Amino acid sequence: MRKALLTLFVLLLSFPAFAQNMQSPDGKLLLSFGLSADGEPTYELSIGGKEVIKKSRLGIELKELPAFTKNFTILKAAQSQMDETWTPVWGQEKQIRNHYKELAVTLQQASVNNRRMIIRFRLFDDGLGFRYEFPEQSELKYFIVSDEKTEFNLTGDHKTFWIPGDYDTNEYFYTTTKLSEIDATDSKAAQGIAFKWPIAANAVQTPLMMKTSEGLYINVHEAALIDYPAMDLMVDKKTFGLSSHLVPDAVGNKAYLQAPAKTPWRTIVVSDKATDILASRLILNLNEPSKVRDVSWIKPQKFVGIWWEMHVGKSSWNYADVDNTKLTETNWASLKPNGKHGATTANTKRYIDFAARHGFDGVLVEGWDIGWEDWFGKWKEDVFDFVTPYPDFNVTELQGYAASKHVKLIMHHETSASVTNYERRLDEAIRFMKQYGYDSVKTGYVGKIIPRGEHHDSQWMVNHYVRVADKMAQNRMMLDAHEPVRPTGLHRTYPNWLACEAARGNEFNAWSIGNPPEHETILPFTRLMGGPMDYTPGIFQIKLDVYQPGKKEQVHTTLAKQLALYVTMYSPLQMAADLPENYERFMDAFQFIKDVPVDWDETRILEAEPGDYLTIARKAKNKDEWYIGSITDEQARTSNISLSYLTPKRWYVATLYADAASAHWESNPMAYQIQNFLVNDQTKLKIGLASGGGAAISLKPASDQDRKKWKAYQ
Ligand code: NOJ
Ligand code: CA
Repeated sequence: MRKALLTLFVLLLSFPAFAQNMQSPDGKLLLSFGLSADGEPTYELSIGGKEVIKKSRLGIELKELPAFTKNFTILKAAQSQMDETWTPVWGQEKQIRNHYKELAVTLQQASVNNRRMIIRFRLFDDGLGFRYEFPEQSELKYFIVSDEKTEFNLTGDHKTFWIPGDYDTNEYFYTTTKLSEIDATDSKAAQGIAFKWPIAANAVQTPLMMKTSEGLYINVHEAALIDYPAMDLMVDKKTFGLSSHLVPDAVGNKAYLQAPAKTPWRTIVVSDKATDILASRLILNLNEPSKVRDVSWIKPQKFVGIWWEMHVGKSSWNYADVDNTKLTETNWASLKPNGKHGATTANTKRYIDFAARHGFDGVLVEGWDIGWEDWFGKWKEDVFDFVTPYPDFNVTELQGYAASKHVKLIMHHETSASVTNYERRLDEAIRFMKQYGYDSVKTGYVGKIIPRGEHHDSQWMVNHYVRVADKMAQNRMMLDAHEPVRPTGLHRTYPNWLACEAARGNEFNAWSIGNPPEHETILPFTRLMGGPMDYTPGIFQIKLDVYQPGKKEQVHTTLAKQLALYVTMYSPLQMAADLPENYERFMDAFQFIKDVPVDWDETRILEAEPGDYLTIARKAKNKDEWYIGSITDEQARTSNISLSYLTPKRWYVATLYADAASAHWESNPMAYQIQNFLVNDQTKLKIGLASGGGAAISLKPASDQDRKKWKAYQ
C-alpha cells in the first residue's frame, strides 16, 4: 500500500546571495541552503538548534571545462515532500517508511552560456541526503569529473571510528581517535590485507562514524553508488572539515558522465541516540525501488561450506602444489594431487549431508575450479575459467546428490581481481551454473585489478559490480560479493544482491592479528550502514592451535558472542562458518544457529554504543518468535534487556545462550551456559557478558507443556 503526498512550492529568483531553509518532517532538523557573494553553493545542517554541519561548500570540478563551483545564480528552488511506505523483498522489517522534505535548487552559470546544475536535498527526521544532477542541455553533453568539492564542516574535534582512505580495500580494522589525531599511515590496522592502496595520512573511508562531546552521533556515507567512483574523505585536522576525495581511474580521471546524469547521494545520519543511527533506513530510502519484477525466486538463506577449513590451513583451495599453470595448456589430471584439496566430491557430500541433517539451504564450495595453483599475487589475466572442475570434483554427481537431499550448492567465482577475464567468461559461467542447478554465487576480488591501473573503488569497477548484479538478476541468480566497493543500499534496487563482504570479516581471525573484540560493535555503525555483510560468524573452535600445534591465531570473541552475531550483524545470507565436526561437539549451542531466521518482520535496537556494546531484538518473519543478540567489546558488562515488545498476556519460553561466569575471549572463550525460562512482556532480563563476550536468546510462544516444565525468569 502506497501513500504519497506531494506538494510543490516554486520560487523563481535570480540574485546571487540567497538563502533558503527547510525543516525535517518532525521539525527537528534544519537545512539551510545558500549562495555566497561569489555564487558558491553552501549548506548547513542543525538538529534541535545544535549545529551538525557548519556552512560547507558544494561543487564539482570538470576536466578542461569551467567548474561547477561558483558564479551561480538560482534559477529555481522547488520544495516538495514525500510520505510513503514500501515493502522490501527481505530485510530488518517488513515495511519501511520513506518520509522526507525535498529541496531541488536549479543553479545557473551566466558566465558559461547559462549552464545548469541541480542540487537536490532530501531532509528526513534522521538525516540529510543530497546529490548533484546535470540536466540535459545543449551546453553540456559529455564531461569528465576531475574532482568533487563537497565539504562536511564539523563543529569540533569529534571522536571518530575510522579506517584509512584506500582505493582498493576496506579490510582494515577500526581505529578510534579524535579527528585531530587521525593518522592513516599507521599500518597495524592493515595487517593481513592482501593488497592495499592507502591515499594519505588524513584520508578516511565512509561510512564514517563520529560522536561529538555533546553526545550527538553523526554518520557520513553515500547512497546509490552507480556510474561514479566511491567517495573517500580528507580530514582537515585543524578546522575539523571533511572534504570529498573521489577514487581515480587508471589515467587519473574520476568519472565520465553524459548528461542527463546524477551523482550518488551524500548522506548524513544524525541523532542524539546511537540506537537511532542503527535504526535509520535513510540510505535504503535514497535508493531506487527494485529493478527485479518477479522476486519470487529470491530467498534469504543460511549455508555451510568448504571454506573455514582452508582458512585455518586444514585443507587447500589448490589441487596440486605447483605453480606456473596455464588454463589452456596445463593438464590438471596429470598433476600430482597435494593430498589436502578441500573441494573433493567426498568432502562436498559430507557437507551436503550435514546441511540436510540440520536444515541449511546451501553448501558453498571454494576451490572446485582449476586455476588455484597460482591464483594470487601474479596480476595474471587468464587465471580462472569458472567452468572446469578439478579432477576430484564431480559436478554432475554432486548436482544429483545435493538435489536428492534438497540442498543447493553455492557457486564460487574468485576472480583474483582479473575482471576483464571474468567479464569475458561470465555468460559461460552463468550457463554452467544453470546447467548444474546453482542459483547463488559468491564472487571475490582479491588482489590488483585488471584492467591494470583501475582500482576496486573506481568508476569502472563500481559499474562492474552493478553489471554483475544486474546480469545475475536477469538469470535468477543470487549474489554475495567479496572485496567489492563498500555497499550503498543498492540491495533495494537489486534484491538478488543479498550481501557483500567489503570489510574485515571473521576470516582475518584465522590468519592475521585478527579483529579486536570491539570490531563487531563498530561494524553496524560503519560498514553495515550501506547494507548486509557476509561476516561468516559461528566459529565455535575459537583457538586455532587444534589445526596446527603452535598456531597462535584465534577468534577474538567468546563462543556465545559468535551466536549473538547472527542477530547483531544483519544479513539475509548467513554462513555457519565452522567445520561440521566442531558443531557436532556442541550440538546444544548449535541449536541457536539452526533456529535463528535470516528474514525479519521487526527490529528493535535496544542498547548501542559504537565501540562498546550492542543489543538488538528481532521478530522472525511471519512468526511470533523473537531473537536477541547482545555483544560487548573487551569490557565485561551486564546487559539490561526489556521484552516490552512481546505480545501482551502471552508466555514465551526463552532459551538463553550465554557466556559462563568464567568465560573470557582470550583465556576461556568456549565456556558457555544454556538456560531455559518463561518470560512475558513485563520481564526485564539482566544478562552478564564476559570480556569479548555476548549472549543470544530465542523466544518462542510457550506450549502448556513448556509452562509446566520451565520456571518464570527471576
Ligand atoms: C577472500 C574471501 O573473503 C574469502 O571468503 C575467500 O575464501 C577467499 N578470498 C578465496 O576466494
Ligand atoms: Ca575478504
